[in-house]
Amino acid sequence: MSNEKTTSLKVGELDFPPRKVWMKTYGCQMNYHDSERILSNLQSLNFTMTTDQQEADLVIFNTCAVRDLANQKFYSHLGETKHLKAHINPETGLKNDVIVAAGGCIAQTEGKELVKKFKTLDFAFGTDVIDNIGEMVYRAYAGEKKFSVTSWDRSENYSIETKITQGTPQAYVNIIKGCDKFCSYCIVPFTRGREKSRRLQEVVTDIKRLVEYSGIQEVMLLGQNVNSFGKDNNESLAQLIMELDGVNGLERLRYTTSHPYDVTDELVAAHASSKKLADSLHLPVQSGSNTVLQRMLREYTIEHYLTLLGKMRKANPNIVISTDIIAGFPNETEEEHQATVKLLELAQYDNIFSYTYSARSGTKSARMKDVLTDDIRGKRLREIQNAQMIIQAKLRGQMVGKTFRVLVEEKGISKGVTKWTGRTSCLRIVHFEPETPEHDYKWHWVDVEIISSTALSTQGKIVKDHGKRLTH
Ligand code: SAH
Ligand code: SF4
Ligand code: F3S
Repeated sequence: MSNEKTTSLKVGELDFPPRKVWMKTYGCQMNYHDSERILSNLQSLNFTMTTDQQEADLVIFNTCAVRDLANQKFYSHLGETKHLKAHINPETGLKNDVIVAAGGCIAQTEGKELVKKFKTLDFAFGTDVIDNIGEMVYRAYAGEKKFSVTSWDRSENYSIETKITQGTPQAYVNIIKGCDKFCSYCIVPFTRGREKSRRLQEVVTDIKRLVEYSGIQEVMLLGQNVNSFGKDNNESLAQLIMELDGVNGLERLRYTTSHPYDVTDELVAAHASSKKLADSLHLPVQSGSNTVLQRMLREYTIEHYLTLLGKMRKANPNIVISTDIIAGFPNETEEEHQATVKLLELAQYDNIFSYTYSARSGTKSARMKDVLTDDIRGKRLREIQNAQMIIQAKLRGQMVGKTFRVLVEEKGISKGVTKWTGRTSCLRIVHFEPETPEHDYKWHWVDVEIISSTALSTQGKIVKDHGKRLTH
């Protein structure tokens, strides 16, 4: 959101003077994208965004419930808003009438309890009502307090238009919501509801519009399981990718997250034939042990998974693969854990997102009797992460001497030296020094030759600056 507004807006019975909203988002890309949608919706009630909580009229937490740590962080941040409410506004001399709201995954399942339990919380809203945020904020300003809206959208179709507020050439585009997988450890099917896809043509039209009118060049297709996209409509992710391949001006396409069970040969083939699909694939494995995968209800074996990686690498030899891993699933034996460590060697991941198991109430695995301690889980997590660092450093070392196309995101100063940072098609972060101190590379496409690398970052030198648009 950009320009400062000065005039008041009359909406229904109420006046909406220019106000500020401050937001904190936890969790996954879907939540971050929802936050963008919330902010965009609030513009019509005269809100602009602020990064300073102290000057906010409206404070929104977009919460995540995937692990206990995410819940704890939110509870502690919410507790801190007590001070905001008690704050005296220096201009009016009155107590600030800050409104505090919580949305997202915790609010979906615990909205009512949150509102009751936390004095400072004015209202809560779930994951399927974010497009009604304006109505809820209106209710709050009309004096209604302590309400919770967590209904599910019962309409048969999932139909939206993507809203963007960041002014960058990158956009997240939801293509499917919900999850029907019910992995035994996971809260997401409860917080996001059943799978529902947008229609393929709607997504294509949406993205064409973003490319043509909003300067979007890189798109991330989003969903908890994008491989289920279109199942009910006889459409598929692979078809969508191939249609998007024909959109002029769209340079890079990514998707996340994919469930290995649903990866089709058609999708593998799209990785070979699509010119836009990036050289990156996030394919969560969760564990290297077949017996643990069974208890997780993941529906595939490690053999199947590794065969898939082989097919993907054959389809696109430049593809770089990342994954998610859970350490210490209930009753995981040392042998089962070692199977995960061994998997790292076999799979050669470029990056892993690893976590200790966290019991989520309402899930199947939370009802399992469990002999593991937090200490064991922590130790196994560290072992996994240490093993990965060695593999990662080796893989990234192989980048040295090669040239990569990078979309530049931002400028930073490290140890007194100005450096620009961007991402390759394979999603690796690259830092490079500008040719001249004042050269502005923001959102430029550049070619960078890698000169050194570690497990976590790579340094390069600029070979060519293509500017903000590539000419093909
Ligand atoms: N839809 C995605 C993942 C969504 S949750 C998928 O299927 O891969 C993101 C990650 O959080 C998961 O991949 C998993 O590794 C982790 N996660 C989910 N539930 C968890 C739990 N109860 N404890 C620890 N990690 C968990
Ligand atoms: Fe959770 Fe499994 Fe669905 Fe991913 S696929 S969101 S891990 S239930
Ligand atoms: Fe968290 Fe909800 Fe995403 S639980 S990971 S914010 S879908």
